[in-house]
Amino acid sequence: MKNIAVIGAGTMGNGIAHTFAQYGFHVMLIDISEKALQSGLATIARNLDRMVEKGTLTEDRKQQTLDNISTHTDLQKGTGGAGLVVEAATENLELKLDIFKKLDKLCAPQTILATNTSSISITKIASATRRPGQVIGMHFMNPVPIMKLVEIIRGYSTSDETTKTVVALAEKLDKIPVEVNDYPGFVANRILMPMINESIETLYNGVAGVKAIDTVMKLGMAHPMGPLQLADFIGLDVCLSILHVMYDGFKNPKYAPCPLLVNMVTAGKLGIKSGEGFYDYTTGKKAEKVAEMFS
Ligand SMILES: NC(=O)c1ccc[n+]([C@@H]2O[C@H](COP(=O)([O-])OP(=O)(O)OC[C@H]3O[C@@H](n4cnc5c(N)ncnc54)[C@H](O)[C@@H]3O)[C@@H](O)[C@H]2O)c1
Repeated sequence: MKNIAVIGAGTMGNGIAHTFAQYGFHVMLIDISEKALQSGLATIARNLDRMVEKGTLTEDRKQQTLDNISTHTDLQKGTGGAGLVVEAATENLELKLDIFKKLDKLCAPQTILATNTSSISITKIASATRRPGQVIGMHFMNPVPIMKLVEIIRGYSTSDETTKTVVALAEKLDKIPVEVNDYPGFVANRILMPMINESIETLYNGVAGVKAIDTVMKLGMAHPMGPLQLADFIGLDVCLSILHVMYDGFKNPKYAPCPLLVNMVTAGKLGIKSGEGFYDYTTGKKAEKVAEMFS
């Protein structure tokens, strides 16, 4: 398999395109927005430059990586000849169902359709296609070129063959794939989000302040960053939406989002992307520093 289509050139899509291209795949990066494609390409070039500066990539390999990527706003042209499509468009059920319905019509019968969704059911997404055996979750972590884990999520009907192919592809990218089943939150967010929610609840109950909570978790549990800072990094709106998926999916009050999280999202305090969350990022430098803690 040489040709990979990636749908969505945002945070995750450009990282996924970067990684496949760096490992020699031909990547068709697709977005509805030409501006998003240009900004995605600029991010890839910047991240490759950083790797060259750090000595982890040669200038030649950087150029080959960029040459391996083409950009498209047309889904049909962008997916032509793709053996695998990785969808990393906006987290919205209706949008993803629509994309998969179209992909099912446009792509060759053998093409595998993967989604990078953080929380939407793979089985539900697969139901929009006539090839549920070839639909799978390929959940990369942010930032994709750095993080080793790929959570491979098997929908109810995902075939062994599809799983084997996708696991082998993840390994070719020098990643560590871990197979999990399709239940709300999968594994990563099912464990991470209740921890983040509980840390917000701890703050809300006045047990300790933001810095104290994060310091306990950093120094006491050897986490690279505290849960409140991590929530700012992920986006408080994203955390809230994943908690809603788990709450709705399990009907268990333990996943109910903390009222403070709900209030902050309503007030537009979304973390790094809005400039303020549990921390203040109004100077661009601070936000960059937090992002660098992950690289
Ligand atoms: N951000 C994270 O840390 C993270 C981590 C793991 C998984 N995810 C998942 O990855 C996916 C993408 O998240 P993101 O953070 O990169 O989002 P983003 O908002 O940064 O990017 C989404 C991109 O999708 C494009 N898009 C929207 N509709 C489209 C369509 N019909 N066709 C093509 N492109 C379209 C948008 O123009 C945008 O450029 C989501 O499903 C999200 O849950 C995100």
